[in-house]
Amino acid sequence: MSEAPKGLVDQHGGWDGVYKAVKAEELPWNAGAPDSDLVRLADAGALPLGRALDVGAGPGHDAAFLAARGWSVLAVDLSGEALKLAAKTVRAEGQQGRVTLREVDILKLKEPAESFALVHDRGCFHTLAEADRPRYVAQMTRILQPGGKVVLRTFSDHEPAGPGPHRFSKDELEALWAKLFHFEDFRTGIFEGPRKPKAYLSLLRKKG
Ligand SMILES: C[S@@+](CC[C@H](N)C(=O)[O-])C[C@H]1O[C@@H](n2cnc3c(N)ncnc32)[C@H](O)[C@@H]1O
Repeated sequence: MSEAPKGLVDQHGGWDGVYKAVKAEELPWNAGAPDSDLVRLADAGALPLGRALDVGAGPGHDAAFLAARGWSVLAVDLSGEALKLAAKTVRAEGQQGRVTLREVDILKLKEPAESFALVHDRGCFHTLAEADRPRYVAQMTRILQPGGKVVLRTFSDHEPAGPGPHRFSKDELEALWAKLFHFEDFRTGIFEGPRKPKAYLSLLRKKG
């Protein structure tokens, strides 16, 4: 289902393999803290409160942050090993009661329609195979409430070509999302962590 970061995932035989082989603090996407744009948007009151879904939760810093700010969080990941890290982070932040961890492929998540006010995705969408991107957008459209939002962090086309996640252009993101979502915010930046690749941050609001 997921195709990247090709080097790392292929080298270790899948996401679980990466999480087993690489120390948490050396994972390229692990900033050891919540994403600063997520913090900015929450501080600005730009994100609807209620139930939140953290997609591809990984080490769990964003899920723990959302819980600490009042969301009831479902954090999902394909990798059980990732969820062990997330559990540790959530415990360390004292947010066990507000975060549910579930090992599942986001494309197969069976939550009822309109279950969430907010979806956060830092680095999962950009690892999906091209054919799965429209399926992902359809899943977000289904599980979000009207007016619900997606905070989406992806690699950008300012990052040089190479192995790893897909480098999205703004046009590509719009072609996938703009029919069913308004772009409320769009900015260039970096994917925080040890390597700091160029990234985009999209804040998407479901139409209707
Ligand atoms: C680049 S990491 C980012 C982790 C975390 N969001 C962060 O920023 O630290 C991508 C994560 O997405 C997970 N993942 C990849 N494909 C997935 C899918 N189809 N469904 C759920 N999780 C997935 C991987 O296991 C991995 O933990």
